[in-house]
Amino acid sequence: MRSLTVPSSAKLNLALRILSKRRDGYHELITLFHRISLQDTLRLQKRKEGIHLVCTHPRVPKGKKNLMVRAFDLLKKKYPFEGGVTVRLTKRIPIGGGLGGGSSNAAHLLVGLNRLFKLRISRKRLMDLGAELGSDVPFFVSGASHAIGRGRGEDIQPLRFRRRLWFLLFRSPRGLSTRKVYSLFRVPRRLPSLTGVLREIKMGSASFENRNPEQATRYLTNDLTGSAEQVRPSLKKTRERLSGLHLGICQMSGSGPTLYLTFLSRRAALKAVRVIRKARSFPSVILVHSK
Ligand code: C5P
Repeated sequence: MRSLTVPSSAKLNLALRILSKRRDGYHELITLFHRISLQDTLRLQKRKEGIHLVCTHPRVPKGKKNLMVRAFDLLKKKYPFEGGVTVRLTKRIPIGGGLGGGSSNAAHLLVGLNRLFKLRISRKRLMDLGAELGSDVPFFVSGASHAIGRGRGEDIQPLRFRRRLWFLLFRSPRGLSTRKVYSLFRVPRRLPSLTGVLREIKMGSASFENRNPEQATRYLTNDLTGSAEQVRPSLKKTRERLSGLHLGICQMSGSGPTLYLTFLSRRAALKAVRVIRKARSFPSVILVHSK
């Protein structure tokens, strides 16, 4: 095999709860990852050596700043193999949007290289490698569609979920720095308990399965919303206006700024699009579903 095409999907955080700030500067959290149909495409082709990244998108980081380049270097270092790769990236996931695009690209490159070069590295080992690259990478390597992430987000527990959800994503023209948003988060004096948060997240997930999105979104919240809105105050206005249309509670994914509304059917989502279009002056909207 000389070449391989790998889809690289995005995620939403259906919930993100922070439990504490750790000594290493990261935050201990519990999140509910959900894979969605919005995806980039990676076309991998063997070359003699090194990694050559081809992408026409002007804002995709170049060289070592790109997580795929770091993933390639790390894989070579830990599991030396002969040869290199040309990666042609078709970018569709907004950059710096809280949808995990960069992490997904790195994760799917690891999975793709493992197949292309027949490295036979176990999924578990690839996930450990992914954790060295970023907190969201192991979820994508795991192949799960719906999973709880613990620790920094890298400790993955897949959850059974049989429903296809539909989402309207509201993207911002500019991304947000994850580091900045986390740094503004003020740990409350009364920290939420691990068992309490886990229970709420499982109840939220079950509420979607029981066709009750209103109840689900009451259980599933994102603790980073306030800090993201501190960095970008207009985000709060947009979120409140969208919630004010009574189409469901508007939520934020990861460290933002992408906002989303959740629906049980494509039909309900399309109906909402019409209401939103009438209300005007909302950021561009993308319709996606569970993957
Ligand atoms: O792990 P990742 O490289 O994606 O994290 C980017 C930044 O987000 C970290 O440098 C850290 O500032 C913040 N972060 C955090 N706690 C987490 C995940 C990320 O503080 N659990």
